[in-house]
Amino acid sequence: MASSAATLPSKMKAWTYLEYGKSSDVLKLQFDVVVPQPRDDQVLLQVVAAGINPIDFKRMLGMFKNTDSPLPIIPGYDVAGVVVKVGSQVKKFKEGDQVYGDINEKAMDHPTQFGTIAQYTVVAEKLLALKPKNLSFVEAASLPLVIETAYEGLERCHFSAGKSILVLGGAGGVGTMIIQLAKQVYGASKIAATASTGKLDLLKSLGADLPIDYTNQNFEDLPEKFDVVYDAVGQCERAVKAVREGGDVVTIFGAVVPPATTFILTSNGAILEKLEPFLESGKVKPMIDPNGIFPFSETPQAFAYLETGRVTGKVVISIIP
Ligand SMILES: NC(=O)c1ccc[n+]([C@@H]2O[C@H](COP(=O)([O-])OP(=O)(O)OC[C@H]3O[C@@H](n4cnc5c(N)ncnc54)[C@H](OP(=O)(O)O)[C@@H]3O)[C@@H](O)[C@H]2O)c1
Repeated sequence: MASSAATLPSKMKAWTYLEYGKSSDVLKLQFDVVVPQPRDDQVLLQVVAAGINPIDFKRMLGMFKNTDSPLPIIPGYDVAGVVVKVGSQVKKFKEGDQVYGDINEKAMDHPTQFGTIAQYTVVAEKLLALKPKNLSFVEAASLPLVIETAYEGLERCHFSAGKSILVLGGAGGVGTMIIQLAKQVYGASKIAATASTGKLDLLKSLGADLPIDYTNQNFEDLPEKFDVVYDAVGQCERAVKAVREGGDVVTIFGAVVPPATTFILTSNGAILEKLEPFLESGKVKPMIDPNGIFPFSETPQAFAYLETGRVTGKVVISIIP
């Protein structure tokens, strides 16, 4: 399936935008994009699958154009693929390795022009890990940005065995990972999580003890307070009312209300390596929306679906079926 360095093409197909705007207006398939070349610390990947995230369409709208790379841009942070060329300083990987990762170390600070929704992409080796053998490329591509975000947030709020947690937005890309990591990796004593009515069984299946239907219950009115509240939907003002005194609140989106803290993910392949035993044993599972796998040719439809904000788990583009 993979090209070798000797047979690499010089041009590739890639979804690209030349101006900021709505994905339905600006995203175009280009057939003659120059295949990027890896720097010393980078590898060139043949992309097999690319996960998409809300940051892709927010960036496409120009929401952080002051710190973006110049246009044109190929979107896509998450990748799973095959190493087809290595830079001179690369130590961990060799041609033929099956790897995955989030290719932008700093999500909003000059993310690369050459994203993952293309036949090839380049990425620093430190951002990658070997793909867990039990996962397909599509499954692996669904993970990096959301599982690393879930992990970084749990670390930042000092999560540990025996603590309770409330997850706001438990059915989204990040939320489905927060629940699973809190349970399987950290040993949470109790997990509460919010979603709409039809997604409560999913929350339970992921490990939530107390699924909360946000359409008919206000989580901040519960008598019970939590050691940690992880806000993945932008409800910080309410989140701080649900934490016990001295507990931690972390939010990844929207306004921050004290004592909550926030962060922007720093991508790091070491997190994927640390979590590998949990992925290989099946204790932590990729969570892809039942209608969330799209062929490369339907990338605009994949964005339209993600942009509804109603996706369960992840949306992934299958580049090599
Ligand atoms: N700071 C960072 O480093 C960082 C990293 C990753 C993501 N983010 C941000 O975090 C947010 C979540 O990302 P994501 O990838 O998880 O998004 P997502 O997968 O698109 O989230 C969709 C989910 O959100 C749920 N949801 C929507 N409104 C809700 C509400 N009021 N209460 C509970 N659940 C609700 C939906 O469930 P229902 O259909 O049931 O409503 C749906 O399942 C985005 O804004 C993203 O940009 C930030």
